Amino acid sequence: MKHERGKLFGTWKNRLSVAASESMTRALEAHLVEFPTTFEVSVCPPMVAMAPVQRILSGILSLTAQNLVWDDDVSFTGETNATHLLELGCKYVIIGHSERRIYLREDDEIVARKVQTAVHHGLSPVICIGEFYEDYKTGRTKAVIESQLASVIRVLRNTENPQFVIAYEPAWAISTSREALKCEPDLANANHLLIRELIRNEWGHDFAERTTILYGGSVSPQNARDYFLQSDIDGGLVGTASQSLDGFKGLIAAARYAFNPKLEV
Ligand code: 13P
Repeated sequence: MKHERGKLFGTWKNRLSVAASESMTRALEAHLVEFPTTFEVSVCPPMVAMAPVQRILSGILSLTAQNLVWDDDVSFTGETNATHLLELGCKYVIIGHSERRIYLREDDEIVARKVQTAVHHGLSPVICIGEFYEDYKTGRTKAVIESQLASVIRVLRNTENPQFVIAYEPAWAISTSREALKCEPDLANANHLLIRELIRNEWGHDFAERTTILYGGSVSPQNARDYFLQSDIDGGLVGTASQSLDGFKGLIAAARYAFNPKLEV
């Protein structure tokens, strides 16, 4: 069952240029033609590179946006509608990332509205959940996960079979964060188990078993196997290591090993 949930997302944040996003996409497509995977690999380019990248895609890689606006009907300078993303063939959209929570003050209410908008338009949100360092140090991780997830569940409750992915990302473990500490794979897995339990309580066992829960925070080709082999870590939402071709290929290799159905008993 676990291998069916496996996915790998590489997010280029605002770090790759348009030209670099295009050449990375070309190289990854060629790599995956040569070495196909059984799990989904998705690229999350900067918004300005979305259209150029989309023109390169052949159906092997999926396309993920890093943001959307919560309402298609308001005029909102600089923002991007769900309908724009659909026009680009986008499948997923990252919502609730800790960088946006810190720098743009996006709170649980905005996150929930964006999630609702994405699902309403048939985009799958990749919903980022995770505690900040102060929460971690004061033993509030469980409470934060519960309240962040509760605000999302509230808006999805009346949707039948909602399509979404969860990304558990402790903000203090992101490689470019202030703390940049390591969240050990077994600790990450314990929090994934908690998230799956909360999803099970709302939507039942089968739905929870199908839900992909990614880990994000300093995942690299060297440590990715340790994370992906955990019982409830179904892949990664990876920043820095996905921003070089060798790094992305290394992540794919680790995922190929960890999501090999033959390894499952
Ligand atoms: P790093 O992989 O650089 O720690 O970034 C993780 C992240 O923020 C993904 O959303």
